[in-house]
Amino acid sequence: MDVTVIGCGYVGLVTGTCLANIGHTVRGVEKDPRKLKTLQDGHCPIFEPGLAELMQEHYTTGQLQFTDNVRSAVRDAEVIFLAVGTPPRADGMVDMSFLEAAGKEVCDALADLNPEYMVTVVVKSTVPAGTNRRLQNYFRQQSNAYVQVVSNPEFLREGSAVKDFMEPDRVVVGGESPEAFRIMRRLYDPVIKREENFLTMGWESAELTKYAANAMLAARISFMNEMTILCEHFGADIEDLRKGIGTDYRIGPAFLRAGCGYGGSCFPKDVAALEHISRSAGHESLFVHAIQTTNKNQKKRFVDKLVEKLGRPIEGATIAVWGLAFKADTDDIRESAALDVIRYLLDRGAHVRAHDYKAAENMKQVFKDEVEWMPDPVQAAAGADAVALLTDWPQYSTLPFRKIAATMNQPLIFDGRNCLHRDVMRETGFQYYPIGRPAVENRLRLKNGLRH
Ligand code: UGA
Repeated sequence: MDVTVIGCGYVGLVTGTCLANIGHTVRGVEKDPRKLKTLQDGHCPIFEPGLAELMQEHYTTGQLQFTDNVRSAVRDAEVIFLAVGTPPRADGMVDMSFLEAAGKEVCDALADLNPEYMVTVVVKSTVPAGTNRRLQNYFRQQSNAYVQVVSNPEFLREGSAVKDFMEPDRVVVGGESPEAFRIMRRLYDPVIKREENFLTMGWESAELTKYAANAMLAARISFMNEMTILCEHFGADIEDLRKGIGTDYRIGPAFLRAGCGYGGSCFPKDVAALEHISRSAGHESLFVHAIQTTNKNQKKRFVDKLVEKLGRPIEGATIAVWGLAFKADTDDIRESAALDVIRYLLDRGAHVRAHDYKAAENMKQVFKDEVEWMPDPVQAAAGADAVALLTDWPQYSTLPFRKIAATMNQPLIFDGRNCLHRDVMRETGFQYYPIGRPAVENRLRLKNGLRH
């Protein structure tokens, strides 16, 4: 089919590239001249495993093209995706200005087209309930074109977005037109393995499904993080709880890993938006509010524990931070735990040395020379008073810990992702503090003399 994707940011680029990969002809529209040039030079502007290769493959064959011209891009389109950003406004509500501008531009561009051909406009951006219905009315009022609007929320995870697109748990399509549902079913045909995984529903249900999915996942994480407080108090192990409840098929094992808080461009934004959406519906959601409060507190609790167990004043202490991205396999630092943790540490007078396998360049834009940037984790730890591990990069768990212990001022690790092996920590002489798990309390041997 002939598809146009308005917006070549993260969601738009993954969607467009994957649609090209399943055989559609795709035109991506990008207004940012720098990003457009990168795309037209055949380069992928974001880091996402497998995306650059697919993008280049289909760009070379012409199956995937990029332009900044909406009018020409929609001329032959049967399906037009709107995949522009809906960032949070300062008041926490969703900023709809990009989507409104894109909708208007598409509406104007469709005005000259033959009204006999139906065009399906697909809202991929995450938008509050009621948006798609308003957009449909807008097209009806402003244009003679035969347009059916559908909501098609995305459930892609950074780091596995290509796989999530090619093997979706489900495809959700909200709307009112059976014809548009049929077109969407045909569009996604190659990736729909079972009919029941293609879900059609009303616009508002689809819109709310997106927020509900992210809030539910964030709630599971916050609940487990809340449980770590009890685990630490009673000497229980959050990993045992995770297995103990995750094996109940009604609960399931996913998204129950405790840590120093969730981050990223989606959970924090969408949970905050859901709170505002609830308020706009006249409901003060204590539950949705609590998901966020627990998440904020978890980052602070992590630093409080570090300060308490450090064995010397935090002021003037050197702390090596391992991991800056909001999760492994991405260079994305948006709302990452490291942003808060580093800020708390700096505010308390610590000297911070930071390392990440992909995200250091992005984090440099935030902390500049307030932080010492280290090329590898072993060097970052040398001479430090503690390591704070904040991202679950698998590489961190296989480092030469005996060597690291020997070069640190005191061998002390605070594991904010529970991803190091306790036995290794014990055997290599570390004082080790995971989250919600019993600590390994080897006697600290200070390199530079006695504890302060
Ligand atoms: C999330 C959702 O998982 C996707 O389904 C959704 O499409 C996407 O948001 C979006 O709305 O665009 P993403 O933000 O890429 O995807 O990352 P996740 O893998 O969900 O992780 C989010 C955060 O939760 C990370 O900071 C991660 O470290 C944390 N997390 C995840 C935990 O703390 N514990 C867990 O058990 C799982």
